[in-house]
Order: sequence, then structure tokens, then C-alpha cells
Amino acid sequence: MTATSTATIIDGKSFAEGLRGRIADHVARLKAEHGITAGLAVVIVGHDPGSQVYVAQKAKQTVEVGMHSEKYELPEDTSEAEVLALVHKLNADPAIHGILVQMPVPKQIDPNKVIEAIDPAKDVDCFTPANVGKVQIGLPGPVSCTPLGCLMLLRDHLGTLAGKHAVIIGRSNLVGKPMMQLLLRDNCTVTVAHSRTVDLPSIVRQADIVVAAVGRPEMIKGDWIKPGATVIDVGINRIDAPERGPGKTRLLGDVEFASAKEVAGAITPVPGGVGPMTIACLLANTVTTACLINGLVPPSDLTA
Ligand code: GUN
Repeated sequence: MTATSTATIIDGKSFAEGLRGRIADHVARLKAEHGITAGLAVVIVGHDPGSQVYVAQKAKQTVEVGMHSEKYELPEDTSEAEVLALVHKLNADPAIHGILVQMPVPKQIDPNKVIEAIDPAKDVDCFTPANVGKVQIGLPGPVSCTPLGCLMLLRDHLGTLAGKHAVIIGRSNLVGKPMMQLLLRDNCTVTVAHSRTVDLPSIVRQADIVVAAVGRPEMIKGDWIKPGATVIDVGINRIDAPERGPGKTRLLGDVEFASAKEVAGAITPVPGGVGPMTIACLLANTVTTACLINGLVPPSDLTA
């Protein structure tokens, strides 16, 4: 009989819980020692059910770690000028240290105009050009939430990442590109693959670290994975699941979990892997910006 090995499951849910505990400690210390209550404002325009669930989670967890939370729910037909006016008001509000406008926004609103209106000092998504540049050259500030969450899980599991070959699949501004910057900063050799990459399986087979962020359910198969590699699955694909009952759905990652877990050394599940880290990192970024806005050095355990 041939021995088979099964990957360690990287438990993002429990890591995120621990991270939220550390965030709550920092929030309490900011209050006790400096009289600062970190504050996060979340803005949602329209009624996309998925976005509403995310935003409700964000607001709930903000309160749970002891922060001030403001939630703005604007109707679907809100004009671009109204959203920009709200962003300007929040930019000027000293109780608010982080502003998040949930994407996507309805079609009458240009998302780039909204992003550029956010004061970079309060840009906890790390979407503004100023903050994207800071991440690139390693200056302190907020770091894109999902890539930061992936980096924390990788460091926790592997220790040093230096010298590892990381293959990122996906080149989005939200995940692929900032992930590339963070892994380079941690001295990985980084390959960014995308929809035009030729022979993707053979490239993924070279990876010590795979970060899958393509948004295509179970595209990356177990036989693409190098034995022992660490696999971070960023995909959250909602799939119809009639076998669970009428109208039911389930979540699938970008990696075919059942086959990949037989080959990988470690893998994040979906759900319960990267997803919970994204919101925790949003809260971490709000502590970082609250410190920087007040001339304090941000805690090193909450950032890259
Ligand atoms: N929509 C989906 N993910 C995100 C995110 O991380 N930030 C914002 N602002 N919108 C999103």
C-alpha cells in the first residue's frame, strides 16, 4: 500500500480570531494611553446582497474590537456627487480614521473618482495611488487587506519566506499586484501568472507557495501542485447547490481542494481560510491609520 499524506489545513478563522484579540488590545491601549478611539466608517451604495453581508460583518467586528463604527447605507440611485460629498465629510471628521467604500458601486458612480477622493491617511483598503506606492517602497501605512491576510498566514505557517518561489495566479489591483509586492519584500522569488500565461500547470508546479486569486471555481488542480507546497486559496466563488435544497448555494475556492490537499504540505480551506483574514486586516489597518494620523508608531504585529 502506498502511504498518502494529507496537507495541514491552515485555519484562517482561528488565526483571525487571535488577530482580532491583538487588535482589541491595541484599541484599548490607544484609548487608555492616548485618549484616542479608533473609528471606521463603511459606506455601501445599493442593495447587492453579498455586499450587504460583508458590510454588516465589517461593522459588527469593528464594534467587537472596541472601535467606533459608522455605517452609511445609500440608495442604489445615489449620485456620484453625493458619494463624493460623504467621503469629503468623513475625510474631515476627526472621529474617523478609516474610510471604506464597498465595491462595486452602481454604474452611475466612477469607482476611481471615489477612491481618489478618499484621504490616503484614512484609506484602510490601500486603494489610493499614494498608498499603493508606499507599499511598493516599504513605507508605513495601510496594506491591502486580503494580501496582508495571506502574508500573515504564510509567515505564521512557514516562518521566513526568503528564497521561496511564490507563484501568484491573478494580476488584479485588489490581490495579485499587492501580493507580488509583499512577497518580494519578504524575499520570495515571485512569478505572477494570469489569463494569458502559457502552460500554467507547469509554472504552478514550480511553486513552493501558490496564491490562487483568479475567481474561477476549482481551476487549479491537485496535480498542478508541487508535493509539500503551501497553497493559499483567495477564491470565494458562490455556486448553485441544488443537492442541498432549492435555491441553495455553496462556496468554492479557486483550487480543487479535494485533490490539492493530497499533495500540498498546507492549504487554506474555503470558507474559513483567507476570507476571515480580510476583515480582521481591515481592522488592523484602522489601528495603523489611527496611530499614524496621531503621530504614533503603529504596532508592528498588525502590518507587513
Ligand atoms: N468589495 C469586495 N472586497 C472589497 C474590499 O476589500 N474592499 C472594498 N472597498 N470593497 C470590496
